[in-house]
Amino acid sequence: MTLCPDSTFSLVSPSLNNYPYSQENPLKLGIMASGNGSNFEAVAQAIAKGQINAQIQVLIYNNPSAQAPIRAANRGVEAVLLNHRDYNSREAFDEKIVHTLRQYDVELVIMAGWMRLVTPVLIDAFPDKIINIHPSLLPSFKGVNAVEQALAAGVKITGCTVHLVCLEVDSGSILIQAAVPVLPNDTPETLHARIQLQEHQILPQAIALAAQR
Ligand code: GRF
Repeated sequence: MTLCPDSTFSLVSPSLNNYPYSQENPLKLGIMASGNGSNFEAVAQAIAKGQINAQIQVLIYNNPSAQAPIRAANRGVEAVLLNHRDYNSREAFDEKIVHTLRQYDVELVIMAGWMRLVTPVLIDAFPDKIINIHPSLLPSFKGVNAVEQALAAGVKITGCTVHLVCLEVDSGSILIQAAVPVLPNDTPETLHARIQLQEHQILPQAIALAAQR
């Protein structure tokens, strides 16, 4: 029996809602990214469409060859390169990140493809105000290669999660999740692409949810 033959099927919970919060002043966001930055773009688009009342103060990226800063430039958002290789400890690196986020008056920090472990230096500076997007239905498939892990496990449904960041990797309180089907011929690339469509939906919504907390 096929209840759901549509490969575009997804289930989002809590369900998507266009205007879940309002506040007088836009919420000031700092986005941290290491790579392509499609989630950065999704947040910028949601702001431009008026779906969330926020503004991106700064993009922090750690990888000189990341695409995210190009997207930031196209959107008129300042991008700051903080290369972890220039720091002799994770703590020293995180101190610089905290300093930069404060310089830009950031209220909510979004890790959107940030590929570095973080320390209490960063977490304690923004208590319950750091969120992360992860390409699995947590608590399954934590850490790197979550999409490959899901394929290897043979699950038929996976997805993405936005959660608060705590010290233990991919383990903070869950804000929102989207379920995505795994199709028989999926490769890591095709499955990740399907998951990313949902990431781009739930991340702006998660920002709204985090703003309400
Ligand atoms: C996303 O799949 C996210 O879940 C993971 O890293 C990827 C970043 O994608 N943490 P992008 O750089 O936003 O396109």
